[in-house]
Amino acid sequence: MTTLQQAQRPIPQVKGAPLVGNTFQFIRDPLGFLTRLQQQYDRLVRFTIANRLVTLTLTPEDARHILQENNKVFVKSDAYKVLSLFLGNGLLNSEGDFWRRQRRLAQPAFHRQRLALLADTMVQETQELTERWKQHEAELPIDISEEMMKLTLAIVTRSLFSSDVKKHLGSISQSVTTIIEFAYVQLHSFIQIPIHYPTPANIRYRRAVEKVEGIIYEIINQRRAEKRNGTDRRYDDLLEMLMEARDEETGEQMTDKQLRDEVTTIFMAGHETTANALSWALYLLAKHPAVAGKVREEVDRVLGPEGIPTAETVRGLTYTLQVVQETMRLYPPAWLFGRKPIADEPMGEFRLPANLGVLICPYLLHRDPKYWPNPNQFNPDNFLPERIKERPAYAYIPFGGGPRLCIGNNFALMEMQILLALLVRAFDFRTTRRSVIEPEPGITLRPRGGLRLRIKPVSD
Ligand code: HEM
Repeated sequence: MTTLQQAQRPIPQVKGAPLVGNTFQFIRDPLGFLTRLQQQYDRLVRFTIANRLVTLTLTPEDARHILQENNKVFVKSDAYKVLSLFLGNGLLNSEGDFWRRQRRLAQPAFHRQRLALLADTMVQETQELTERWKQHEAELPIDISEEMMKLTLAIVTRSLFSSDVKKHLGSISQSVTTIIEFAYVQLHSFIQIPIHYPTPANIRYRRAVEKVEGIIYEIINQRRAEKRNGTDRRYDDLLEMLMEARDEETGEQMTDKQLRDEVTTIFMAGHETTANALSWALYLLAKHPAVAGKVREEVDRVLGPEGIPTAETVRGLTYTLQVVQETMRLYPPAWLFGRKPIADEPMGEFRLPANLGVLICPYLLHRDPKYWPNPNQFNPDNFLPERIKERPAYAYIPFGGGPRLCIGNNFALMEMQILLALLVRAFDFRTTRRSVIEPEPGITLRPRGGLRLRIKPVSD
């Protein structure tokens, strides 16, 4: 390991325009800009964006160093603060002992056995969707992005609150879109107007936050009231787990504010990401009918033609899982995330200065030709067990890594396998005339302009 004294080599820096640095190059085409840097530099490179100097890391080894080996030196980057008005001090944003305690309290809610109870919800919501789609006229394209967003929103909402909150889903969904878009614009603005200034964008954002928060508090209050009156049903949902969780050392439970922050975080982190991954998966399957055929064949073989997937049986859907993994390789929903070291940190012969942002880019790592032959091609065989063994683990990090690994990764994988199995068994997906869809990098990686596909029931 190098010491700080040995780490003296300056990190190369990209030339930028006066005052604005590389901001416009980045904003105009973030993926193109970063990909060009990957082609030109080996390990670390710096650029300025919105007045901030950031270091882009390019190797799996450095991703491992930051996320796992030396994770204690790194905290979340300033970008996460943009989300904090909404997410508060929930798991995604919190740090140190507070984060550790909250993670300990929340972890049991995500154990495999608990998740198994949620498989039914996933199946029911998807079956409702397939019934609706069967009534759809075959030649008319369906807005897959919107449908996947609604489906994963319904699933995460029922998983959190069991009770039927469908009446709220429409307005929640709109508010969530407003929040995500606001956060992305803020992230790349030169001047961040304080949130309490009554600009139209700030007002829209605050209203959206208040709406979602209002609904969440209403549900928490109702549940607390039921417990007080002894009228609560036996809930099997994530909220119940979080409300009942007790700190091993102090015996304390979460306050309403902590519950609000954790629930909002899970709610937010838990559906937009999955919806995007599913949209991309259906897009790739529409473009690769032979792969779709193999998924269908596997689903028929493992589940039977009418069989309902469960947490147990989806484990047999290994090829479907490979399709999910390969989709998130090409289109990782969390395509870029950041940290900053709390003290100067040696990185081989380089030195990362304290408090300057460091970027980890799954999108680049996942397409690095050093680890992926034909990196831009869709090939689920990249995830055959023997291929996985050949690569450094941090060459593939759709869920991050180390102690801050996504707490919902098993939830998301099970959800994506179940949904894909049911959708692909029931329908053939075909691209429309606009058959090439570009990724749009916002907070997550979405299909630009949405994704529309034609669907046809398989039995036709
Ligand atoms: C395809 C779907 C998903 C992707 C790609 C994804 C990706 C990620 C990534 C990359 C992180 C780490 C961020 C960082 O290190 O800064 C993360 C954290 C997190 N994710 Fe996910 N996620 C997904 C689904 C979910 C689901 C379904 C849930 C909950 C139901 C969830 C809840 C969380 C939470 C609470 C954290 C913060 C964990 C902590 O720091 O302790 N995610 N996710």
